Amino acid sequence: MNAQGRLSRLLVELQSDRTLYVTDNWRRRLDALDRLESCLIHEDAEADRAMLDQVSKIGAELEASNRDFYESLRRDIRAGSGAHRLMQCTHEADHDEKNAGRAGSERYDDLDVLVSGVLQLDEPHDVSAELAPDMVFYQPTPATQIFQFISRTGLNEQDVLVDLGAGLGHVPLLAAICSSARCIGIECEPAYVASARKSASDLRLNNATFLAQDVRDADFSQGTLFYLYTPFTGTLLHEVMSMLRHEAAQREIRIGTLGPCTEVVAQESWLQTDDTMTPHEIVIFRNG
Ligand SMILES: C[S@@+](CC[C@H](N)C(=O)[O-])C[C@H]1O[C@@H](n2cnc3c(N)ncnc32)[C@H](O)[C@@H]1O
Repeated sequence: MNAQGRLSRLLVELQSDRTLYVTDNWRRRLDALDRLESCLIHEDAEADRAMLDQVSKIGAELEASNRDFYESLRRDIRAGSGAHRLMQCTHEADHDEKNAGRAGSERYDDLDVLVSGVLQLDEPHDVSAELAPDMVFYQPTPATQIFQFISRTGLNEQDVLVDLGAGLGHVPLLAAICSSARCIGIECEPAYVASARKSASDLRLNNATFLAQDVRDADFSQGTLFYLYTPFTGTLLHEVMSMLRHEAAQREIRIGTLGPCTEVVAQESWLQTDDTMTPHEIVIFRNG
């Protein structure tokens, strides 16, 4: 079959499948959008105007349907009942074949698209804070990793999660939706903090707080679970580990790490873990 024939067959398939528009079928809609996009990339040259119009129309309908789905999740979150539905979405994704080959921190997938639709974070273009050499630029933790972290830690109302170098705040925001823990993000870039605060306020997350400051100036005394997606390296990382060691001398804490910082944190003799040491998955350490 030629390129035009393949696109035509896909259009017939998508037009006749009304189950695509069932509210909860957000992942099937994302898959259909991917298939349309890849057909366009490969077959654009041969598609006629009428076909391209159909592609645009179906694409717009699928996107609108997903926007409705994200809005319905946002309404549930505002009403305090979104956690269950959101966690259910993550279980569906666990079993998805498309995601099976992806691993660890490379694993940005459909869940990240869903999270983006739910949190609706503004991505600031003008960032003001100058990063010193030991500070790492912003990159979000993949959503799959965040949801696994939330499940594994069993966060509850006794916990205070502190994300050190929180970026746009994905980790504290999702933890605040999915648990009753207090969730704090500390981030040196004020524009990121403003985005995170707006998202928390729009979703009425009273248990999420964002502080615009350098983590070295922060008060760690409330934290029970700290999270680091390699926000800094070198001397700065050692300095922050000393601050955490000071906290650990007073009480039990846990520290989740992702990326290259895991190897450095693992060398701290006051911390233990039962996890397999890998930079691609979050490792959870505890003192004592
Ligand atoms: C790799 S990103 C991680 C973002 C977020 N924790 C996540 O997992 O989605 C590292 C973030 O740490 C921030 N950062 C680096 N050094 C910092 C410091 N000394 N104090 C506060 N934030 C810092 C950067 O601006 C960046 O947004």
